[in-house]
Parts: sequence; C-alpha cells; structure tokens
Amino acid sequence: MHQKKLTIPDIRNRKHGTPISVMTAYDYPWAKMVDEAGIDIALVGDSLGMVVLGYPDTVSVTMEEMIHHTKAVRRGVEHALVVTDMPFGSYNSSIPAAIDNATRILKEGRADAVKLEGGVALAETVAAIVRAGIPVQGHIGLTPQTATSLGGFKVQGKSAQAAKQLIEDARALEEAGCFSIVLEAIPAPLAEHITTEIGIPTIGIGAGPGCDGQVLVIHDLVGLYDRFTPKFVKQYTKISEPIAAALAQYKAEVESRAFPAEAHSFTMKSEEMDKLLRLY
Ligand code: KIV
Repeated sequence: MHQKKLTIPDIRNRKHGTPISVMTAYDYPWAKMVDEAGIDIALVGDSLGMVVLGYPDTVSVTMEEMIHHTKAVRRGVEHALVVTDMPFGSYNSSIPAAIDNATRILKEGRADAVKLEGGVALAETVAAIVRAGIPVQGHIGLTPQTATSLGGFKVQGKSAQAAKQLIEDARALEEAGCFSIVLEAIPAPLAEHITTEIGIPTIGIGAGPGCDGQVLVIHDLVGLYDRFTPKFVKQYTKISEPIAAALAQYKAEVESRAFPAEAHSFTMKSEEMDKLLRLY
C-alpha cells in the first residue's frame, strides 16, 4: 500500500477530522508494521529506554540512542510522520543546546519533528526550537522524565488548581508554536476541556476519548512488556506467549535433532563427498 507522506499541516488539520492514531516504534520491522497499518504518527518515544533497552526509567536514555533508533524507524516508514522524543537533559540546560539537539534529531535521525516534556516553563525553549524550523510536539500531564518530582507515575490535574495549571501549560505550548500536544494520565473531562480550549490537536494517553488522537506504547499494545502495565493500556494481543512457545519448541528440536530437517538443509553430489573423503 503506497500512501502519501503525512505532513505537519495534515496533522494540524485533523483537529476537527478523523482522530489521529499514534503508535511508538523503535526499529525497522516494527516501524514498517506501524506504517503499513496506516498509523498517522510513528513516535520514537524515550519509552525506548524501558521497553527495548531495559533501563528502569526514561532518564538514562541518551541522544545517541534516540538518533540511532530514529534512523531505523525512518527506514521503515513511508507514510507516517516520524516524531522523536528529546531525551532527558537534552533540552533543559540552555536554549542553544536544545536547538542543537533538536537539529541533530532531524539532521542525523531524519525525524520530522521532536517531542519534549513540559509546559509554561518550557514554552520559551519550544518557541526557539520552532523558530529554528523544527516542528515540536508538546507533552504535559504525567511527564515520565520528571515523574519523581510529580510523586511517581500518578494521574495529574485532579484538583481544580492543578487542572488550571495544565490548561495554562497547553495554552503556552500552543502559543509557542507546538503542532500538537500529548496529554498523559489526566482525567478525561479535563482532557476534553483542554481539547476544546486550544486550536491544535491533543493526543491522549490515559486521557480519555475526548482528545483529537490517541497514543500507546507498542510493547504494551502487543503484550511484550510485563514489568509494569498502566491502567490506561489496552493489550490487544499477547505475542510474548506464541514467541515463548516457539522458542521452547526450537530448543527442544535442536536438542532432539528434529531441527534442521531436510527442508532446511543444503545437499551436495555424493561423488563430491566421496572425493572429499579421499583427499585425506
Ligand atoms: O516515550 C513515550 O513512549 C511517550 C508516549 C507514552 C507518549 O512519550
């Protein structure tokens, strides 16, 4: 299936159209499946650190790792927009450093846009990156890179005061030039309210059905990550089970010599084998 490559205006224009589907991808085969499924945005999330690299959190993820995996995703995608997370520490020290790192993600990784976590406090940085010609997706609510300061992986914006701050964050990010905003782990009525308050698409994860789009981590969707599954995850399949069964069968067949069978082996003429045995 050959489809036209999606652009930032295409995503912006979906504010009042069909909901936007976003799925994480971290390498070539998964990116290809995401793209072939017609998903709109392939997000190279820094969840990479937890679900692929085995880190305990997203804080350890480096620029080099994000760029390396973005390159692989880029090669697997024809239609989807590729958005890459700026890792922790790559945009907080100074605005020039943030622009340099966002530039590397586009130039070396060939992403179409970057995503970074934070609201009002990050608005100036976002505006500077956007002015440098780099599309930015915002991310507010539960921001995993700073989850410790938020008191852990908890739903955000439950009080009127905290909800008001999130609305201000969303407005500041829109003003700064974000083309869309991820809303993570916030009450559904608040997410719906923010969605009506701003003119750019909201992408929800644990934010209810009232957003302009939805995102999930692909390892959660297919049942490949069992260390922690948030309430908002819907597991559509559990592919770890057939994979485990295939591995167990492979091990048993190697040990019993049932694998490889003739069908998986190469032959040679018996006279060549006889000649070989006479050579020594
Ligand atoms: O890193 C990630 O995968 C994300 C999504 C959960 C939004 O930021």
